[in-house]
Amino acid sequence: MKLFTRKSFLTLGALAATGALMTGCGGSGAPEAGVGATIKIGEYASLTGSEAAFGQSSHKGTELLVEEINKTGGVLGKKLELIVEDNQSKAGESATIVKKFISRDKVVAILGEVASGRSLEAGPICQTAGIPMVSPSSTNPKVTEIGDYVFRVCFIDPFQGKLLAEFATKTLKAKKAVILSDVSAAYSVGLASFFKEAFTATGGTILAEQKYASKDKDFKAQLTAIKAMNPDVICVPGYYTEVGLIVKQARDLGIMVPIFGGDGWEAPELIQIAGGEALKNTFYSTHFSPAQDSPMAKKFVEAFKAKYAGEVPDAMAALGYDSALALVEAIKKAGSTEPAKLRDALKTTDFVGVTGRTKLDAKRDATKPAVIITTEGGAFKFLQTVEP
Ligand code: PHE
Repeated sequence: MKLFTRKSFLTLGALAATGALMTGCGGSGAPEAGVGATIKIGEYASLTGSEAAFGQSSHKGTELLVEEINKTGGVLGKKLELIVEDNQSKAGESATIVKKFISRDKVVAILGEVASGRSLEAGPICQTAGIPMVSPSSTNPKVTEIGDYVFRVCFIDPFQGKLLAEFATKTLKAKKAVILSDVSAAYSVGLASFFKEAFTATGGTILAEQKYASKDKDFKAQLTAIKAMNPDVICVPGYYTEVGLIVKQARDLGIMVPIFGGDGWEAPELIQIAGGEALKNTFYSTHFSPAQDSPMAKKFVEAFKAKYAGEVPDAMAALGYDSALALVEAIKKAGSTEPAKLRDALKTTDFVGVTGRTKLDAKRDATKPAVIITTEGGAFKFLQTVEP
């Protein structure tokens, strides 16, 4: 855990918690979770490293919500104090951070992580300690299976795999597909298998399942093998850093068929890495598009641009906002910040957020529409909404 990162974000956190810290009672030294002048919430995210785009975006959404709540007086008469830590996109860091949140900072709840693998790492610690954790965007089913203190505000990958399979068969008219997945990411392994199940169920054929690992840079061996199989489409359920290189190298090898994946593609870096030309005829599914026109989404896009120098929010920013909103709603409903009461209130989550109605089922998962995005002229473009 990088301490300097913590400090700089504590400064932001302190700004977000405005009045609370300026009155001189920052809540430090509170003996128990939930007892103090502020309501302490821990947020762990990949603010640096290979998935930095995810963590930064999600954090910005979360920070915006916290600021809005604090401007209107906070919750239960107290300001929210967001304590933010960077796991550098590295395995092992999230566990350390979450332990610190619980034992040292005495947070009442924890927000994170974007990536399923890191939620799977930290979730069991929250579960054992009895501190609610709300993931904005981890889509692997195993995340909430950890236990009843773990929640998420996004759809899950059986839905995402199925909608990608339907998109491939109906829109792309594909009969033969190849999957190229990241064996080092729980998200990728899961989404690959859900896609495969749904694609074969509709009569499609998976010609091969090729693999890579996070941080790989050269995919030519897999891609050359894929080219020889002559698939109609290639499904790459990975994260943007590797996906960008895969798309670029595929096009360099003359593979021009559609390439698609899930929400892990979503980052401006994808366009920088692959280039707009290579991204022609590529598609991905995700949770939100700034082109959506619900009143809440519009208001969010405006507020986000105003706070972050005109930056347009993506799905992670929207889900980061909704994850914090779920927690605020639960605190209000519970009338308390006692973690067990928060857990019970979170179980009945049902509100309209930026990404739509967020109603949790018995497994603490949300059912929500997805959007499909394509790239045109070097920019992402909203294609369609897929209802669950
Ligand atoms: N769903 C991905 C995972 O579970 C993370 C992600 C969410 C990536 C939203 C991009 C956008 O790991």
